[in-house]
Amino acid sequence: MSDRLAGKVALVTGGGGGIGEATARLFWDEGAHVAVVDSDASAAQRAAAGIDKSGERVLAIGADLTQEVGAARAVRETVERFGRLDVLANVAGVRVWGPITEATKKSWDFILGVNLLAVAHCSKFAVPEMARHGGGSIVNVSSANAIQGRSGMAQYDATKAAVLALTRSMAYDHADQGIRVNALCPGPTLTMFHVRRRAAAKGVSLEQAEAEMRAAGARVLLKRQAEPREIAYGILYLACDESSYVTGTTLMVDGGLSA
Ligand SMILES: NC(=O)c1ccc[n+]([C@@H]2O[C@H](COP(=O)([O-])OP(=O)(O)OC[C@H]3O[C@@H](n4cnc5c(N)ncnc54)[C@H](O)[C@@H]3O)[C@@H](O)[C@H]2O)c1
Repeated sequence: MSDRLAGKVALVTGGGGGIGEATARLFWDEGAHVAVVDSDASAAQRAAAGIDKSGERVLAIGADLTQEVGAARAVRETVERFGRLDVLANVAGVRVWGPITEATKKSWDFILGVNLLAVAHCSKFAVPEMARHGGGSIVNVSSANAIQGRSGMAQYDATKAAVLALTRSMAYDHADQGIRVNALCPGPTLTMFHVRRRAAAKGVSLEQAEAEMRAAGARVLLKRQAEPREIAYGILYLACDESSYVTGTTLMVDGGLSA
């Protein structure tokens, strides 16, 4: 354990699984008090219990962050429990697949709600809390495919590009309050969500799906998928004081996919 976030309070969205859970765990390892927020309340509980059985420095919150009221409650409960908020990691995200000809109002509402509006809602309520204590750091998780095209994920990629624009303009708006705002773009990252989906779609075991996915990392310069913790280390850098001169930027953690 190290202490890059000692004494700090962090709220991690999407903390119930994948990159969000890895981020919450790494933040905790680095000394932070961590609120694990997820629309899947039981996943948030499970992740929080796995990170800190005593519950002293971790709090699980079930909240649908597509709704302002859910984001407001998540921030409020974090501050009520830990007294302040220094770091917001907006990690929650969802995907829809298919070309734009298959998009519907429902699919747009779903993906914009989580990938863009949840980021905005959480930031809206986090900023005043951060400003009250002299500032903080907001890290928005986008995707390497915000800047690199591909087929079959136009809606997702558009929402992730929007997050980059939101990040830059938020950095302007809140610099004077001592709040840094940055984005991080992961490349393909091996999470259970992806493994389960592939196993179900192809009718293979989880082990086989995982092996196939590892092989599919070949399109990346580093020839493999990331482990969630490798992405979390980038989020940690932007969250902690070691990046004190960094704001409004986009950090690619994509194994060279976009090079
Ligand atoms: N895994 C990858 O290959 C990859 C690549 C690039 C970018 N990303 C991005 O990284 C982030 C994390 O990805 P992941 O693979 O760990 O995802 P994941 O599906 O494993 O986890 C996402 C979490 O977000 C939660 N969530 C969904 N809707 C929510 C809502 N309305 N309110 C609160 N929580 C909600 C889910 O319950 C889930 O626990 C996402 O933003 C994703 O777009 C992932």
